[in-house]
Amino acid sequence: MSAQKTIHLGTILQGAGGNMASWRHPDAVADASINLDFVKKLAIQAEQAKFDFVFIADGLYINDKSIPHFLNRFEPLTLLSALASVTQHIGLVGTVSTSYSEPFTVARQFASLDHLSAGRAGWNVVTTPLEGTAKNFSKAQHPEHALRYQIADEYLDVVKGLWDSWEQGAFVRNKATGQFFDASKLHTLNFHGKFFDVAGPLNIERTPQHRPIVFQAGASDSGKTLAAKHADAIFTHQNSLAEAQAFYADVKQRLAQYGRKADELLVFQGIPVLIGEDDADIAAQYQQTAALVSIDDALNYLGRYFEHYDFSQHALDEPFPDLGDLGENSFRSTTQEIKKLAKENAYSLREVALRVATPLPQFKGTAEQVATQLIDWVDQSAADGFIIQALTPHTLSTFIAQVLPILQQRGRFRSDYEGSTLRESFHLAAPENRFVSAAQQELEHAV
Ligand SMILES: Cc1cc2nc3c(=O)[nH]c(=O)nc-3n(C[C@H](O)[C@H](O)[C@H](O)COP(=O)(O)O)c2cc1C
Repeated sequence: MSAQKTIHLGTILQGAGGNMASWRHPDAVADASINLDFVKKLAIQAEQAKFDFVFIADGLYINDKSIPHFLNRFEPLTLLSALASVTQHIGLVGTVSTSYSEPFTVARQFASLDHLSAGRAGWNVVTTPLEGTAKNFSKAQHPEHALRYQIADEYLDVVKGLWDSWEQGAFVRNKATGQFFDASKLHTLNFHGKFFDVAGPLNIERTPQHRPIVFQAGASDSGKTLAAKHADAIFTHQNSLAEAQAFYADVKQRLAQYGRKADELLVFQGIPVLIGEDDADIAAQYQQTAALVSIDDALNYLGRYFEHYDFSQHALDEPFPDLGDLGENSFRSTTQEIKKLAKENAYSLREVALRVATPLPQFKGTAEQVATQLIDWVDQSAADGFIIQALTPHTLSTFIAQVLPILQQRGRFRSDYEGSTLRESFHLAAPENRFVSAAQQELEHAV
């Protein structure tokens, strides 16, 4: 049965690339992160190819050691709003942190994006790994990992409650009678929790998708629980098919405890991709990008995951240093993975830094090989879809020109959009309004 599953695809728009030196590639647009025409072109290209969504990642703290793309880039919701006006079908997904924002504001912003894109908004919920962020938000301390996830859980209850403020059709705007809205369809949340007190209602009507699609991108235990309870999709990255299968089974089995079915949460693997004519071509393309990354760049890149730890104080060719718990309160799952990689392979600091900063994409090969690998991962219950991260400035175009037709020929990727909303692309049902009885909703859906 799963052999017929279609594959969902998104692509991350991250300027010239997510690598420390992507902007230096001979064919890269060096100012891509702050170049609206460049981003628009990519979004339109992804839409013509029928991708489910484009994704704008985000963080809220930089220093002089951050990846160039992070130093000078657009705020996601502002950018997605601009992209909404030049696209019609593609989903528009952006990251906003629950640790450094207010639920009322964020509920309103994503509801607005859902309206102005006619049902294409997606919110990637993160709890913010970078400790330095506290310093940008007048906070004495970055909340610790478990607390961040408790806040996020309550935050999502509030936001979803606010999105139910108005029933569909609440705004009657009857000029003859003077009735602007139907008061029976207005609901005031009056939320009182541990972290938030929010009265509501939200000052915007129910959205075209009933509510924007909620993504979640934390792979720790708390992250998976949050996704199982609240999200429509989860972003993750695993290094092998076996690990991806274990992750997939783990998050899917968590859904039942929240009364949800396994297909109500889509699992997306974020995958760097490299397509070439043969092994030599792939090696040459990889070398061209990897060679631009200096060891200093690589140490800085690695350090960011560990609260901007200064790795240059350690000898490069000695075993990877013992860092104790460093990283547990920031990028927990990623830093655990890096420590494991170093230990299992007895890598030196230099080897770890280069492998982390310039990983050889797992999804690499000819178009045929990459297409087959994507299908295998979906058929073997490791993913419902993928977020394509292009390794070179040409990879996305090559993926679209060569890999997609193979997926389409094999009946595994759409040749046109199913509808006009991201929810329709994901084949997800519209959520019910908590303030409306099941019987009433059934009646309304039947009309
Ligand atoms: C595809 C993908 C996209 C992500 N996007 C973001 C992002 O935009 N901002 C962010 O802070 N974290 C993002 N993350 C998550 C971080 O990499 C990190 O795993 C997470 O913030 C740490 O949470 P954890 O401790 O639950 O793993 C993303 C992860 C993946 C796999």
